Amino acid sequence: MKTVLVLNGPNLNLLGTREPDIYGRETLADVEADCRRVGAELKLAIEFHQSNREYEIIDLIHAARERAAGVVINPAAFTHTSVAIRDALAAFDGPIIEVHISNVHKREAFRHHSFVSGVATGVIVGCGTEGYALALRRIATLIGEAGKRL
Ligand code: DQA
Repeated sequence: MKTVLVLNGPNLNLLGTREPDIYGRETLADVEADCRRVGAELKLAIEFHQSNREYEIIDLIHAARERAAGVVINPAAFTHTSVAIRDALAAFDGPIIEVHISNVHKREAFRHHSFVSGVATGVIVGCGTEGYALALRRIATLIGEAGKRL
């Protein structure tokens, strides 16, 4: 079974109570449960993490080089600030889908730029927490296509 790393950046541990008008009422535990349900359906093992620390996210991406076939990442505020996370992702060989729960393009100008999008395979924006399941489905397609080419 192939493994997909689902990574969540700072403040996403507060999902459900943090600005619910923007991010909704689903908690991160709900998102994890959704990912595990969709992962089981797609026959993917899910590794799910959240960290408020940039270096931990970088270390998890490095570990994924050995362990994971794909990465789903919501870098949260680090999207708009972190060259280091972008560089770590650039060193990962498999598909990467960047997810944002809110439509960042409808929000403040500082959220319009992503350091991560330039190294992501795809980006899902403004689809609520459902974006994670969409991202996993896309990764399953891409991993399946890569498998067929081998
Ligand atoms: C976010 C959007 C970011 O701008 C913000 O800093 C977040 C969450 C989203 O999922 O919509 O923390 O990545």
